[in-house]
Amino acid sequence: MSADEPGQPPGPPDRFVWGLATSAAQIEGGIDRDGRGPSIWDSFAGHAGRVRGGHHPGTAADHRARMVADVALLAELKVPAYRFSIAWPRVQALGRGRVNEEGLDFYRRLVEELLAHDIEPFATLYHWDLPQALEDDGGWPERDTASRFGDYAAIAAAALGDRVRHWSTVNEPWCASMLGYAAGLHAPGRNDPGAAVAAAHHLLLGHGLAVDALRAEIPDPEVAITLNPYPIVPAGDSDADRDAARRVDGVANRLWYDAVLQGRYPDDVLADFSAVSDLEHIRDGDLSQISRPLDALGLNYYRRHHVRHRRGASAQPPASQWPGSPDVELVRPVGPVTDGGWAVEPDGLTEALLAVSEAYDPPPLYVHEAGAAYDDDVGPDGTIDDRARIAWLEGHVEAARAAVAAGVDLRGFFVWSYLDNFEWAEGYAHRFGVVHVDFRTLVRTPKASAHWLRTLVQGDLGGR
Ligand code: FCB
Repeated sequence: MSADEPGQPPGPPDRFVWGLATSAAQIEGGIDRDGRGPSIWDSFAGHAGRVRGGHHPGTAADHRARMVADVALLAELKVPAYRFSIAWPRVQALGRGRVNEEGLDFYRRLVEELLAHDIEPFATLYHWDLPQALEDDGGWPERDTASRFGDYAAIAAAALGDRVRHWSTVNEPWCASMLGYAAGLHAPGRNDPGAAVAAAHHLLLGHGLAVDALRAEIPDPEVAITLNPYPIVPAGDSDADRDAARRVDGVANRLWYDAVLQGRYPDDVLADFSAVSDLEHIRDGDLSQISRPLDALGLNYYRRHHVRHRRGASAQPPASQWPGSPDVELVRPVGPVTDGGWAVEPDGLTEALLAVSEAYDPPPLYVHEAGAAYDDDVGPDGTIDDRARIAWLEGHVEAARAAVAAGVDLRGFFVWSYLDNFEWAEGYAHRFGVVHVDFRTLVRTPKASAHWLRTLVQGDLGGR
């Protein structure tokens, strides 16, 4: 049977894994336990007007307290792999110095539970929850933060590396830098495009230092970074529209791929950035650290970017997530959208997987995240028939199969997300889980999509 036939795994059958994904800040809660220090998301959410509805990640899905039951439910759902993130402020309250063994113990127990249920752990070191103390010292725009991240990576690797083989250093550094420091939409909520450019570089430098730290501690790790590429569609055919598309492609895609996979920054992106930054944070040797060889590359996919030049100057351009390019804008294409307002574009996933495979020489790929926000109705009998999410997932799994049929080396597919959770600046308004969480009672209820996933996985595993 070929890989593109339904019922077969999209990747090499002996090396392909299905999974569910979460991140620490979005599900754990328990922010005062284990001697955990505050993260930038705790602080950001504490400021009125930053997170929709004034929602706060203080309790989230309460996974810190309910971890054992949550892993048991994963096992009931027959999920072969689980991608989670480690909260840096739970491991080092201040982001430097003393190690909180109590915090590490939580992750040791989590990994033990997973392994006891035959679930493969995939750990991510940084999913946006910077210790607030490091932000107080300047955050990611400061070079020292990258060094501190390298130290933290070594601590996590030493504690878990004998049982966790699959690692990702940083999740979506584009969001962490551009939404956090330029657009101000994510923590820490700054509007400083020059700082965002430096933050991007230091996130990448931290990634490179973490790669070395993981390899130094673990005999045979699979080390990855998780990027979020956006296939680009020019939404207009003027030269200015095409240039806007080039600029967004540069910051969303080529910046990260070129740096990590080729050890260079694209000249045109540096030229655009020079409008807001002297680029003096880039030092000799940094790009060789940033481009350390990887064993895998994780991609997160939700939608494309449809881009055009923003017509009509406003006196005060909105804070741009595209440093040096304040006059580009994203437009929503015609067609279906999720309840989160994101266009449903499954063939964009095929395009993203093919684009990196054709333009670069990447290591094996994983889809580290793909999923959709729909406002689920809980039926009178308590069931949740989220057929829109199932349709979204079916389309995207087929899109992954199409990429594999065209030659992409895909090793896994993680659905975002296991549980409904704290969706960053959207608070609890957007539900991405295949398992429903009642945020009043914290009761979990698998949705129809969770049952769909179990059937899919069992089919692919021959009913194991
Ligand atoms: C990604 C994030 C993840 C989640 C999804 C919806 O950008 O990595 O934490 O918020 O979007």
